[in-house]
Amino acid sequence: MSLTQLRENGASMPVRPVTAQTLLEMKRAGRAITALTAYDYPTARLVDQAGIDVILVGDSVGMTVLGYESTLPVTMDEMLHHTRAVARGVKRAFLVADMPFGSYHASSDEALRNATRFIKESGAHAVKIEGGKRRADLVRRMTDAEISVVAHIGLTPQSFHRMSGYRVQGRSIEAIESLYADAIALQEAGAVAIVLEGIPREVAAEVTTRCVVPTIGIGAGPDCDGQILVFHDLFNLTFSSPAKFVRRYADAATFFGGALERYRTDVTSRTFPADAESYHLPREVAAEMEALEEHPDARVDDFVQSEVLDDPFEEFKKLVPTGRG
Ligand code: KIV
Repeated sequence: MSLTQLRENGASMPVRPVTAQTLLEMKRAGRAITALTAYDYPTARLVDQAGIDVILVGDSVGMTVLGYESTLPVTMDEMLHHTRAVARGVKRAFLVADMPFGSYHASSDEALRNATRFIKESGAHAVKIEGGKRRADLVRRMTDAEISVVAHIGLTPQSFHRMSGYRVQGRSIEAIESLYADAIALQEAGAVAIVLEGIPREVAAEVTTRCVVPTIGIGAGPDCDGQILVFHDLFNLTFSSPAKFVRRYADAATFFGGALERYRTDVTSRTFPADAESYHLPREVAAEMEALEEHPDARVDDFVQSEVLDDPFEEFKKLVPTGRG
């Protein structure tokens, strides 16, 4: 099905979901592909509604959301949990789930089983794996099993220890040739797109020219077919200074910080909640309570309507909202 009817605020608007084929057509037409990470339902909705073409549930969730030092500790369960939440918020974008470190390294059988879980259990449209030509057989096997694969070469964060840190890759002739060979091997194995991370602009431009499938760059210059950034980098939510390639589009840390300060002040000064933010007794019950206060010695039955006393739960239900507003 290529055309889905979406209902937003009662209106019906046609949405054409982005597919791997769409990305290929965008490359051929010279239209830039937009991509961004998301890790939860509300941000996925915002990113999707902004018309971003590709949403990646990156294993960067480990650092941005879960507070790990690197992506290495992220587990399959954590990735599946976040991908499911994101999938619930996505109507249009091509949804890619990152396979975490260790989930595709031990054997191709295990890798295939794990990749299948992303498609079957989390709603992802494709999986992403890191590594060059040494992953080509795996990409072919997954593709044969009807699983779309996005490849990821250059600076691959899961290789942090082997690379001795997060370092720009592809700076020597040998390394550049190796990157070209990686890209072509992955493309031939069936990768639907290739993420190029942390490589010189010139190298990314050449990979992009040589490849038929789209390249999506992060720290790889403007000549890739598309660009991806980490959501928390875009909004200053990383508690650290940004890398050279990051452009910050808003300062959510300052925005949230200011609002939190005002909330704390309002509570401590008892100006929150105001009367208008409070629930009130029904008028008759308030009147009855007032009458009781004025005549404390009177019998309750003299003032309280029997229906109120008969079913106090009914009165409680009037005070407590029953649905989400
Ligand atoms: O995990 C992630 O966010 C990524 C992007 C940096 C491409 O892999």
